[in-house]
Amino acid sequence: MNNARLGFWRGWFGMLARGFAICLAAATLCAEPAFIPGEVWLDTAGNPINAHGGGMLYFNHTYYWYGENKAGATTMPVVNKSWDGYRVDVTGIRCYSSKDLVHWRDEGLVLKAQTNNPAHDLHPSKVVERPKVAYHAKTRRFVMWLHIDSLDYQAARAGVAVANAPTGPFAYVGSVRPEGADSRDQTLFVDEDGKAYRIYSSETNLTTYISQLSDDWLGHAGKYARVFPGAHIEAQIVFKRRGKYYFLASACTGWDPNPLRLAVADSIWGPWRECGNPCVGPDAATTFHSQGAFVFPVAGQPDAFIFMADRWNKKDLPDSRYVWLPLVFEQDQLKLPWLPEWSPSFFAAKPAVRW
Ligand code: GAL
Repeated sequence: MNNARLGFWRGWFGMLARGFAICLAAATLCAEPAFIPGEVWLDTAGNPINAHGGGMLYFNHTYYWYGENKAGATTMPVVNKSWDGYRVDVTGIRCYSSKDLVHWRDEGLVLKAQTNNPAHDLHPSKVVERPKVAYHAKTRRFVMWLHIDSLDYQAARAGVAVANAPTGPFAYVGSVRPEGADSRDQTLFVDEDGKAYRIYSSETNLTTYISQLSDDWLGHAGKYARVFPGAHIEAQIVFKRRGKYYFLASACTGWDPNPLRLAVADSIWGPWRECGNPCVGPDAATTFHSQGAFVFPVAGQPDAFIFMADRWNKKDLPDSRYVWLPLVFEQDQLKLPWLPEWSPSFFAAKPAVRW
């Protein structure tokens, strides 16, 4: 082929390739947003997703989202009036599964309320909150830790349940007051070496405890640290990125939102360095009208983490909504910018195109 002909075909091929790239980019940008924080989110059957105060497990190429099933009437027990302690009866923990974080299939109640025995931790009259699940590779069991409480939040215990499959059914093992103290809002963190930790509010919510779990993750190992003494925080979240530990938490204002707090450490045991509120944008002072629940890494995407939070509707708790936002890192500095809508393709875009 002579040079003129070669140039002609090269030109056509280049135009086609550019056109294809533009269409692909346009399709990505114009596609329906996967996440609209604060809107009603539907599952694949068209029902509102019911998984509050939740957590995420990635197992076998599938995401499992566990959360409190909030159903029925929202009521105000007389004993909780002084602190605006609205509640719904316990119905159980619901699970959803997804391959793409966008389409969520309802896997049903994987831990159910125990309606027959009023003394049982899972009786409808109790409090069962903030379930977090992790997979124990050696025992091949799925371990769920929960905040278990009495209606007036005075029992303050940590409950544990196990299952052989991510979608349950989970068998309830029991509850404890670890380290001889109270335990309310809580989360679970598994480190790269397989050691697991429960991080929770203790000493009447004044101080956070970090307790190492036993090798089978079904109990507490007896090794723990008291962190942020007197700080009065809850809704704890811990995750790790590039060898650094990140800690997020809220203040204690019941169902009402308040500023998010960030701390960073080189070891799970601390020392933890407080870094202020990482939220950026309108309503940063109320964590965008929400309270944190969990942070999880997006599979196969380096440096992609999603912040899961609840926008509680205290007078109609089943109508509480979800606020999910991507975390953004500037060097090691974590920021949580507000986005009114976004999709997982956010993580594939170059940083400059992100906002
Ligand atoms: C929140 C806590 C929730 C729930 C609520 C009850 O602060 O994070 O999980 O316990 O209080 O008022």
